[in-house]
Amino acid sequence: MSEKFFIDVHGCQMNVYDSRRIVDTLTEAGFTKTSNSSDADILIVYTCNIREKAAQKVFSRIRALKTSKTKVVAIGGCVPQAEKKNILKNKDINIAFGPQVYHKLTRYILEVLSGQTEKILDIEFEQEKKFGHLVRRKEVSHSEFVTIQEGCDNFCTYCVVPYTRGREYSRPVIDIINETKELLQNGAKEIILIGQNVNSFASEAPYINIGQPKAVWRIERLIQEIAELDGLKRLRYTTSHPKDFTNELMEVHAKIPVLVPFTHIPAQSGSDRILKMMNRGHTAKEYLNKLANFRSICPRIQFSSDFIVGFPSETNSDFEDTLKLTEEVKYTISYSFKYSPRKNTPAAAMEGQIPDDVKNERLQILQAVLMKAQLEFNKSLIGQKYEVLFDKIGKYDKQYVGKNVYSQSVIVESDSNMIGTFGDVIVERVGQNSVFGKLL
Ligand code: 5AD
Ligand code: SF4
Repeated sequence: MSEKFFIDVHGCQMNVYDSRRIVDTLTEAGFTKTSNSSDADILIVYTCNIREKAAQKVFSRIRALKTSKTKVVAIGGCVPQAEKKNILKNKDINIAFGPQVYHKLTRYILEVLSGQTEKILDIEFEQEKKFGHLVRRKEVSHSEFVTIQEGCDNFCTYCVVPYTRGREYSRPVIDIINETKELLQNGAKEIILIGQNVNSFASEAPYINIGQPKAVWRIERLIQEIAELDGLKRLRYTTSHPKDFTNELMEVHAKIPVLVPFTHIPAQSGSDRILKMMNRGHTAKEYLNKLANFRSICPRIQFSSDFIVGFPSETNSDFEDTLKLTEEVKYTISYSFKYSPRKNTPAAAMEGQIPDDVKNERLQILQAVLMKAQLEFNKSLIGQKYEVLFDKIGKYDKQYVGKNVYSQSVIVESDSNMIGTFGDVIVERVGQNSVFGKLL
């Protein structure tokens, strides 16, 4: 087969993981990956539907990338899952496939190429089957994602994930461990365990002591087991839900050196009334108490968070509660978004939708407060030593860029090639989004 494919990926780390598995599968089937869209026979856009104008963005990506050489256009991920057959009304799209069926993509592409079919839609939920078809990775980088869990049962009232990624599914422990071992044997040094809700991971134990009932492993146990694997230098996981953070997971952070002292715990809002309407399952106080408890168990721990402003009926006073919460926690980094009504979610039908200008104003205020806290945190690093995994060359000659334990970009100068190596760095100066230092 001589056809070349180009893949354009949007959205979260789950999409990055999926898109890499698509690359592996298509390469195994004989297609060739190209990083030049105008050279591609097959165009794949892997999409995200979490916020605004997702479908329109997909159509404009297709217009931008399609050329006279393109024979097949395939749209994957969360947009087709949400839009269903509507998406095929777009004349350019041949294949629309959800996040659970990419193992069937080769077959669909061949069907379109051979003229057997012109339009295909497959949005079934078949999580186990998808993972059962993973092929050996073609390229292993220094830092690799491993999906441990997918989907979400929390049904926050603003969120499409439970509808697009489906119900919670935890992969079998043995498959996760085997995939991780293979990555480490092939040069990975950092492993990032990913899922929509990784701290609700629950999967049957891989081995059973005779006479004992079958046990279930939670993420705490999985982390301890993975931490023991040869070659692992750094371990992260994301994303979590505050209500699923157990004391055991906090203790694992305190006792396992390869596990970074950093975790993402999205708060979304600091107002109890809004948290309840969001169906988050906790109050602001409960959230803050959890973080305080985490800090008492593991004093080195730092947090990041997500926030939504302008949720239906949010008042100035609700918004101020959010500002107050951020000031109490002092996050190392936070992501904040304007509430975006998503089709078929309960919040989209709630009264009191907030005008866009109010959302914009609140977002600006919140981001200014969050950025100030971030800069203060960055300044607190000056003079300290951090281990950095270098993965890119910098803008200027001899510059290398890597990530510290807080996932911040750290920039150094070096005469030798640092890519793929760890180095100890003393922080000398900091900016809003990066840290500059000297290699020891
Ligand atoms: N509007 C705005 N932000 C949203 N998020 C999820 N759904 C929406 C929505 N409808 C944000 C949440 C979540 C992050 C991944 O995206 O903050 O944690
Ligand atoms: Fe969406 Fe809430 Fe599930 Fe996160 S926990 S994926 S915000 S429903």
